Amino acid sequence: MKLNEIRSVSVICLGNICRSPMGEVVLRDRLEKHDLDIEVNSGGTGSWHIGENANLRTIQVLEENNYVINHKAKQVTSSWFNRNDLFLAMDFNNYRDLIKIAGKNNSAKVDMYRRFDPELKIIFDLDPQLEVPDPYYGNLDYFRNVLKMVERAADGFVKAVISARGV
Ligand code: 4NP
Repeated sequence: MKLNEIRSVSVICLGNICRSPMGEVVLRDRLEKHDLDIEVNSGGTGSWHIGENANLRTIQVLEENNYVINHKAKQVTSSWFNRNDLFLAMDFNNYRDLIKIAGKNNSAKVDMYRRFDPELKIIFDLDPQLEVPDPYYGNLDYFRNVLKMVERAADGFVKAVISARGV
């Protein structure tokens, strides 16, 4: 699907409590600010945290930066591919798991969240720069770093959509 046709984006990490909730909140914020009619949701490839709130450190870093979050963790399943146009993975493990869940017909819907960061000079397909590293075992600064990465990529995504739509 072309970027100008996308109406629903799903942000995916492992647990859906640290990175993808941040990616979801920031992307929704940017889309709303630009009045773009694209829905955003998020999920995890794993089931451990289903129903939980976002991690306290994700909540803290978002609130430090004036974002509002209201989140319950979910696990992505193949049926999500019926109602979302694009899946943005945080790291390559998430990407590979998503490709399996997607199946042959939907694998083209899977991409990396950081693909849209205009500051990255990606020189090969599996360039590690495309990953948002898992902050779960790190300190608060790891989470602050995740926020910076998703903000840059979300800004880039919005720019790319506006340019693709020609508006
Ligand atoms: P997330 O972080 O994938 O960014 O939500 C993690 C959350 C939980 C675990 C690992 C990463 N875990 O091992 O439970």
